[in-house]
Amino acid sequence: MITKQSIENLKNSIDIVDTVSSHIQLRKSGANYKANCPFHDEKTASFVVSPAKQIYHCFGCQAGGDSIKFVMEIEKLNYPEALEKLADQNNITLEYEQNDYKKQDTSIMQKLNDYYVRQLDSNHTATQYLKDRGIWQTTIEKFAIGYASSSGDTINFLKTNMLNLNDAREFGVVDISDTGMYARLNDRIIFPIMTNSGKICGFGGRTVTGHMAKYINSPQTKLFNKSKILYGYDKAAQDIHKKKQVIISEGYLDVVMLHQAGWTNTVATMGTALTKEHLPLLSRGEPEVLLAFDGDKAGRDATLKASRLLAQNSFDGSVVLFGDGIDPADMIKEGNIKELNDIFLSKIPFVKFIIDETIATYDIANPYQKKQCLDELLIFLKTLDDIIAHEYKPYLSSKLNIQPQYVRLNNTQRKRENDISLVAKDIAELSVIKTAISSDEMFDIVVDSLNEDMFGTHKMEFNMLFDDTQNPKLIELGLTDNISTLSTQELGFQITMMTIKHYKTQLIQTKQDISMSFKQKAIKIKELQKKIKELA
Ligand code: CTP
Ligand code: MN
Repeated sequence: MITKQSIENLKNSIDIVDTVSSHIQLRKSGANYKANCPFHDEKTASFVVSPAKQIYHCFGCQAGGDSIKFVMEIEKLNYPEALEKLADQNNITLEYEQNDYKKQDTSIMQKLNDYYVRQLDSNHTATQYLKDRGIWQTTIEKFAIGYASSSGDTINFLKTNMLNLNDAREFGVVDISDTGMYARLNDRIIFPIMTNSGKICGFGGRTVTGHMAKYINSPQTKLFNKSKILYGYDKAAQDIHKKKQVIISEGYLDVVMLHQAGWTNTVATMGTALTKEHLPLLSRGEPEVLLAFDGDKAGRDATLKASRLLAQNSFDGSVVLFGDGIDPADMIKEGNIKELNDIFLSKIPFVKFIIDETIATYDIANPYQKKQCLDELLIFLKTLDDIIAHEYKPYLSSKLNIQPQYVRLNNTQRKRENDISLVAKDIAELSVIKTAISSDEMFDIVVDSLNEDMFGTHKMEFNMLFDDTQNPKLIELGLTDNISTLSTQELGFQITMMTIKHYKTQLIQTKQDISMSFKQKAIKIKELQKKIKELA
């Protein structure tokens, strides 16, 4: 890890205008700079760079952030990669935490794999096995597939080459038991697992002797985090960005075989579910995602889970379904390329798939079950972007055979902000929020005197003040010209108005409240009227 101190140091020495203008042409516009946004297609410039705030923001596509974020987005790098890039460009030396793996020598992993590769050449059973699975020699080389023979052989190799056994243990290659040191992988075909930059960080081993555990993978180590890494990503990255599409399959063999058959944009989770931790890597270059898991029950369940995760995180994509017991690797081995291609073409968009699968779990001939099913799907649809959710309204109503008006998506949704038609109330609420983010002092005044009930359409932004101040909505608000920052006096006035309005609403509600006794009502009403009078 790069030290905090050194990240701070880097942040202080880089300039957003320099960073951005080394990629796109900026035009000065008042205190800021403008350009056509590099992150979406546009004809008029809605991309703004603020040197005072050291941020960029696009009013068109909501992209925004600081220099580091810009480099991450435009060059599709992760955070440390972007830091290294910026440090390089600005001639700054980064410092790393001690005993960081970046400093630690990981070459033992490569040396070990070279050894596994040589072992494969001299093992007839293993080479025959790969041949029987339909894997070509060129594919074996591309994926650096090897073979681990006995535990003794591997330990011997490490010792005779004087490789560091502590490292080997730390990287999950060997371990120590009562009877001494042993290699974790033996009598197995070895698939080296690489980081995105192509360095070996772990191994997956498939038995060729019918061992009970079909696969054994490296344990979680500081090099290897299974729920973050996608097998094959390093080899697929270029094609993913070119095709703007990524295929996610279930295992090593699917990746290897799909690449062999020309689908070189394929990666795989390694027997685990797709997790939130995978999403940053998957979103690089914003490709369409195709889920191509096995056709068995486990594969189908994993597909449903993954498509929910992806849909809810605004990923565009589809699922591809295989028949029970079939996976892409088998189809390619059998030479069923045309069928496979057809399967890929008959992909089903995530949301449609989720709707279909959910409906299949209910007996919708029964009106009560139909209602339950609708409720479940409404909850899901409301977790999606409004527009996407609305797109599926006709589909859902026709599948359930109900009138579209029963697919109620609107009750919890609000009009989108920053639209042209800001009404007075919006402006008042937004200017209060904008003022709160302008200084610590104003922030205290706002959060001390208002609560979320006093906000109408902008509750969400008010709540962001507490835990999400970097939310693009707030950043955008800070940069919007037609909403102004208030003076202390104006803020005070606005707060009073909102408080009065809040009490007045309560007054009306109290009058209409049939659950209160007359006496309770009278006391409450009096109390509220007094408060309103004091404020006015
Ligand atoms: N896997 C694992 N441990 C197991 C079984 C599977 O880690 N005991 C992981 C492996 O990454 C494997 C993936 O899950 O590649 C998919 O499992 P499966 O479909 O059973 O294996 P295949 O890749 O199809 O391998 P094979 O064709 O050799 O059976
Ligand atoms: Mn499989």
